Amino acid sequence: MARRKKIYEGKAKILYEGPEPGTLVQYFKDDATAFNAQKKDIIEGKGVLNNRLSEFFMTGLNGIGVPTHFMRRLNMREQLVRNCEIIPLEVIVRNYAAGSLSQRLGLEEGTQLPRPIVEYCYKDDSLNDPLVTEEHIAAFGWASQQDMDDILSLALRVNDFLSGVMLAVGIRLVDFKIEIGRIYEGDFMRLIVADEISPDSCRLWDIETGQKLDKDVFRRDLGNLTDAYSEVARRLGVMPRNATQMTKPTLIN
Ligand code: TMP
Repeated sequence: MARRKKIYEGKAKILYEGPEPGTLVQYFKDDATAFNAQKKDIIEGKGVLNNRLSEFFMTGLNGIGVPTHFMRRLNMREQLVRNCEIIPLEVIVRNYAAGSLSQRLGLEEGTQLPRPIVEYCYKDDSLNDPLVTEEHIAAFGWASQQDMDDILSLALRVNDFLSGVMLAVGIRLVDFKIEIGRIYEGDFMRLIVADEISPDSCRLWDIETGQKLDKDVFRRDLGNLTDAYSEVARRLGVMPRNATQMTKPTLIN
């Protein structure tokens, strides 16, 4: 069988050439990394869950008119997405203090912020994705002022949508990261939400108990990561609890 062309391999996903021009196949691996891949493991079933969860969030966003790269899910681990030019920024939105914000400013984790705070990091693993300001972004030409206005408004719309969806199932959206891509349509360029939206790229806390249901479970060795992600999927009605374990044939006596 002909081997399909790999376009890019990242820490958690692989991008292959898609079936039509302008498309890519996004494959979700089971690899989990943290602290810029200093900590690594294979977490069986993580890719299947993130494929489904990212489909769920991106479909919801498409449905309220927030454009995303997501076209359709192809199978357990793959989805068809629009090929776009990724802007080299990690766009982070925070509703409560946690992680690097807590460290940087000495805020207790869980402190509600006066309003959502949007931060930008320059996507470069060799530099550890450093925090940058709009000044750096403009000066180095990573995005124009118009792009930045659009990125801010996309990020805040994603925040409102995800916060509401999660609140409805008893989960607090503490913070999340998205990536933005450019697509070209004739003479026009549009910005769309790309990459993935999953518990790998969000902080999700149970509202009642404060239990962490995101990648901090792996980063901080707090328990079983697939159990946490399965719980998010179950509450959202995205997939049955044991669906990720049904990958091997089982003997029926
Ligand atoms: P931080 O508190 O470590 O800066 O993370 C903020 C949010 O961004 C959190 O939801 C996790 C997410 N994130 C990623 O998706 N990728 C990354 O490489 C990092 C560092 C954070």
